[in-house]
Amino acid sequence: MTDQASAIAPEVDWLFHFVHIVSLILFLAVIGAGIYFMVRYRRRDEREVPGPVKESAFVEAGLIIGPTLLVLVVFTWGFQLFLRQVTPPPDAYEIKVRAKQWAFEFEYPNGTVVGGDLHVPGDRPIKLTMTSIDVLHSMFLPAMRAKYDIIPGRYTTVWFDPTKDGTFELFCTEYCGASHSGMIANVVVQPFEAFDEWLSNQNTDDMPLPELGAKLYQQQACQTCHSADGTPGVGPTFAGLWGQAARPLEDGSTVAVDADYLYESIVNPSVKIAEGYMPLMPASYASLSERQVSALIEYIKTLQ
Ligand code: CUA
Repeated sequence: MTDQASAIAPEVDWLFHFVHIVSLILFLAVIGAGIYFMVRYRRRDEREVPGPVKESAFVEAGLIIGPTLLVLVVFTWGFQLFLRQVTPPPDAYEIKVRAKQWAFEFEYPNGTVVGGDLHVPGDRPIKLTMTSIDVLHSMFLPAMRAKYDIIPGRYTTVWFDPTKDGTFELFCTEYCGASHSGMIANVVVQPFEAFDEWLSNQNTDDMPLPELGAKLYQQQACQTCHSADGTPGVGPTFAGLWGQAARPLEDGSTVAVDADYLYESIVNPSVKIAEGYMPLMPASYASLSERQVSALIEYIKTLQ
């Protein structure tokens, strides 16, 4: 089992272990009885005819009532946990989550939007209000025992009450396209003061464009498909891209790599497909601001 980092995690694990152990005992009992009966009542003679079977009302009733009670125990236990898992406390700290192919964006109560890792204060319950701008995704925080689908056109929530500081995994568990496996990040649980300081450092308004571009390259998950060092990937590398005079395209024509070409390829990626690649890039980058697109272009310029 992974870390237990939320209040509900030990209880979820108890239920899991209960179901697991009961299943194991029943499995061994059924298989054991089967083997015992096979040996004990095997046919010893060609002419042997089995005697009449006497029914036992006691055994019959036990086989009906026993499993029914067991199932009801698991249902009641599981349903109580489920109700707690889907009912965020009213004082929870709310973070908005936008999922898109292939990254998560987190919007904090002060309006700051960050990509990459999710940072949360460790001293209060956290509620994530989530939506998707393209296809189905799913938010999974294994150490928090929290998981819920993210659905375009509506809001879903997960919440958790962190019990220890640290860095834990967070990832998408709904197949959402070519780079689904790259939709992975961390949830960083920090003491409130450290979290608050982190949050106040996330304002990117004054950041120089190439620096902002480098940050967005990570946060917007560009790096899952486009390397910055020439390594081949799902999409063309950004290294040495800028300034090419005649870049071959899939339709046989060529294009000069200037700011216009890069701009178009970010916000409308299916128009000009580089030779040897497929039109896999999602259209979701059209939602980037002008400043963000400019920052990415400035960053690509630096990768000579
Ligand atoms: Cu998003 Cu898989």
